[in-house]
This record gives sequence, structure tokens and C-alpha cells, in this order.
Amino acid sequence: MSSPWYPSHMAKTKKIIKEQLKLCDAVLELRDARVPRSSSNPILSRLIGNKSRIVILNKADLADPVATRTWHKLLSEAGYLVAVVDAVKGQGVSQVTKLLRRLSFQRSRLFPGAPVRAMVIGIPNVGKSSFINRMVGKRVAMTGRSPGITRGKQWIRIGRGCELLDTPGVLWPNMEDPEVVFKLGAVGATKVDEPGLVAAGSWLVEWLAHNSPESLMQRFGLPHLPEDKERVLEMIGEKRGLLLGGGRVDIAKAAAVFLREFQSGRLGRFTLDEPMADSDNW
Ligand code: G4P
Repeated sequence: MSSPWYPSHMAKTKKIIKEQLKLCDAVLELRDARVPRSSSNPILSRLIGNKSRIVILNKADLADPVATRTWHKLLSEAGYLVAVVDAVKGQGVSQVTKLLRRLSFQRSRLFPGAPVRAMVIGIPNVGKSSFINRMVGKRVAMTGRSPGITRGKQWIRIGRGCELLDTPGVLWPNMEDPEVVFKLGAVGATKVDEPGLVAAGSWLVEWLAHNSPESLMQRFGLPHLPEDKERVLEMIGEKRGLLLGGGRVDIAKAAAVFLREFQSGRLGRFTLDEPMADSDNW
């Protein structure tokens, strides 16, 4: 699967985010609740240092709620402030504001009158813009004359004593681990070319066949799942009439349809990263 991130691009991004972080006291790290481990950035902990970090499990409406509760517990036990959010409907956003207010209260004891300044960081497509829009809502109170503002960027007041940088930091995902690459392809966090679609689709067929075969069979009207899982994409293509000349299934189209339906939640709510307490990538 292709990745738009190459070393010089990564170095430049890292430099920009480092500069922005100098102006912030807190980071709102967005992760995809369906892949809370795989959607983290490998160097974020180092970049943030000892600044406050709120981990936001976004797209929670698409994730398995039981797994999300366990992830919330594990991440909290690991020392993070955690919020579970659906940025499209706005659910959980007030919880983030509460956590920021708590940080603001702590900070005001050290620096009376100084706001807590935060920025949103996350991998592409994790919902950063949707989340910022939800946080800002109707309160588009720019605080552009504040000192330390970066050119072209604005601080937005989002509550008493809390300000948010209007532009998110976009970081790359960990593309070195093939399983992470498949998972990100499956949830639509990475753009994938045609072979990538088939690879992600095949991986997801295997995962569902193992974890929830009934959802696969029900959604696509499959009476059974064949031993050879590669056949499943073909069967989906046949069911949906995605045929090439000569009656062969257009496997890339079948994979695209399958992934799109999974990503929009039509097969159910799933969490592909099993909650486990042994990750060193938190
Ligand atoms: P980004 O800035 O991190 O790149 O992400 P962005 O907000 O653009 O969101 C990427 C896609 O994810 C959008 O869908 C957005 O609607 C969707 N999204 C964001 N947060 C949530 C959430 O909590 N739940 C669900 N279900 N979806 C979410 P899109 O199809 O790319 O665009 P559109 O259909 O919204 O126009």
C-alpha cells in the first residue's frame, strides 16, 4: 500500500509541529477508536515531552463499545486523560472541554490569568477537522492579538481559560508494521491504490471470518464462508454484480465496495486493535 510520507516530508512536518508545540501547554491527540494503537504516531510521545496529553478516541460510533471501554481504562491506567468522541454528532466533545478546564485550573494556580493552550494532533483522516469544528462550534472567538501566535494561525477561545490552535498537526502513522498498514487500510485511514484495496480487503475478510463471520454472511447474503477466504471477495463481487467482460469478478471493485461498507459501519461496530496493556507505543 502506498504512503505519501517520505523522510524529507516527515522531517519537515516534525519541525513545524515542534515549533507549534512550543506555544502549547497541552496536546489533544486524536486516535481512531477502531484502531487506538495503530492510529498513533510512533514519535508523538517524544515530540510532546512532558506536556499534558488528552487522548481522544474518535469515531467511537463505529467502534465496538465494549472494546472502547477497555481501551479507555487501559489508556487511563497508563496515565493519560482520555475522552471517547463522535466528532460528527458531537458526542463526548463536552468531556474534552471538561478535561481542558481541569488543566486550565491547574495552570492558573501557577500562572494566574494565563490560558491553557492546546493543539489537535493526529494521523490523516482521523477526524481532526470535524473535531475542531465541533469544539469551536459557534464560539469563533479569535484571539489573534495574543503574543506568540504563528503567522496564519489563530487561537480560538473554547471556554474560560482554554484556547485551541485552529489548525491541526498532521502526523504520519507507523507504516513499518504490515499488520498496522492493513488495519489502517481497512478503516480507511490511508489512501490505497488498487492492489492495496485488494490486500486490505483480503486482510479484513480474514479478520471478520475469524471474529464475526455472521456479520460478513448476513451483510452480503453468503450462505457459508468457503475454506479459501480469497473466494469471499469474489463472492461479494458476484452478489453485487461487479463483473468484468467474460463474467469475471472485478476484484478491485469488490474490495472497494466491501471496505466502504465496513468503514461506514454497515457490517457492525468493530475494533481491530485488541485492547492490551503491553503496548510500548502509547
Ligand atoms: P482529518 O481532518 O483528520 O483529515 O479528518 P476529517 O475531519 O476530514 O474527517 C475524515 C472523515 O471522517 C470525514 O468523512 C468525517 O466526516 C469522518 N469523521 C470524522 N469524525 C468522525 C466520527 O466521530 N464518526 C464518524 N462516523 N465519522 C467521522 P468523509 O466521508 O471523508 O467526509 P464527509 O462525508 O464528512 O464529507
